[in-house]
Amino acid sequence: MDKSFPLTGWGSLAVHGGHKQDPNYAHLVPIYASSTYVFDDAEQGMRRFSGQEEGYIYSRWGNPTMTEAEEKIAALETFGLNIEVKGILHASGMAAISSLMLGTLKPGDKIITHFSLYGGTEELVSKILPAFGITAIIADLRDFQKAADLIKADKAIKMMYLETPANPTIQCVDLEELCKLAKQNNITVACDNTFATPYLQQPFQYGADFVVHSTTKFLNGHGTAIGGILLGRDVEFMKTKMTKVHRILGGNSNAFDAFLLIQGMKTLEVRMERHCHNAMEVANYLENHNAVAKVNYTGLSSHPDHYTAMKQMRHPGAMLSFELKGGLQAGIDFMNKLKMCVRTVSLGTCDTLLSHPASMTHYSVPKEEKEKYGITDGLIRMNVGIENLPDILADLEQALK
Ligand SMILES: Cc1ncc(COP(=O)(O)O)c(C=O)c1O
Repeated sequence: MDKSFPLTGWGSLAVHGGHKQDPNYAHLVPIYASSTYVFDDAEQGMRRFSGQEEGYIYSRWGNPTMTEAEEKIAALETFGLNIEVKGILHASGMAAISSLMLGTLKPGDKIITHFSLYGGTEELVSKILPAFGITAIIADLRDFQKAADLIKADKAIKMMYLETPANPTIQCVDLEELCKLAKQNNITVACDNTFATPYLQQPFQYGADFVVHSTTKFLNGHGTAIGGILLGRDVEFMKTKMTKVHRILGGNSNAFDAFLLIQGMKTLEVRMERHCHNAMEVANYLENHNAVAKVNYTGLSSHPDHYTAMKQMRHPGAMLSFELKGGLQAGIDFMNKLKMCVRTVSLGTCDTLLSHPASMTHYSVPKEEKEKYGITDGLIRMNVGIENLPDILADLEQALK
């Protein structure tokens, strides 16, 4: 694409962003399945290693297919913001989050975070990082005064880690207010934007320093590859210290997964529009169904975080959950009756995915622990897909009978 042609549409950038003309004129960026890169002569090797000349050396450090994915996501996260960020593609969302924490924090530092977090991140901060002298303060960050008091009382807090909407509760925290609070106290802000995607929400707009994604989900969109990205506002820091951390920890992505991610992202806008439209309709349908006790969807005014979600997201997203009146057995029966929608635990794919935490992901978690997070026996989690709405509703209808 000619760089002098300004793209005015988010969807156009999703299609063209990050792409460079291939030296052999391939239409799409090729899958550079090469672990290493050759030098014309020893002097060129010297220039590459010393950083005097840009170029690829070894695919753990970088690869042209991975670069295109990084640049596309960086462009989408900053569309319309007039800032530059740098992204580093990782093997998974967890690899990106691990690089972020190990690359920015030191022994004695603390992280403040909201209590509802993806389970892997929660385990990282509560079980892995303490061995490195990094600990977490886990609180309800929807209570702004509480967040302010905790920060004021503890000068060791160096990072505010936000995940909004959070997995699996879809709770949302206020990015604008919390970023302001963090900045006033010289605290770095990182935000996991996996559930929203840059189409629905741009954390850099509010001053976040870092954004992470599990690209496994909506960015890839088709469930074909595990991946993650860490993006940072301080480009120099990302190119130096964070690049070093990423290279040494070895959580690099690969050209095959990056290729799948690039193709998936081209349709992100159209997919998210359809996901969100379907999700709103499904939430309305479920709210009026007599087998359903409660629907949790941030698009419904009954959701406690409705206002926060609508303030910072273009649409309320594709994820919702609902509680069946019949408890555990009703959940199992419902799941067993599904005919088109898929019984599985992930999210972000084109097809509608449903899971029953009480009999699946949270089967061995004690009841009190589950209830703390609102995971009741009859709770069903749903990634509303992009199929035709009547088919989704018909499958739910027959399974709820
Ligand atoms: C919000 C969120 N962040 C991070 C992760 C971890 O991503 P990955 O499974 O790609 O390591 C997940 C996984 O489900 C997630 O939902």
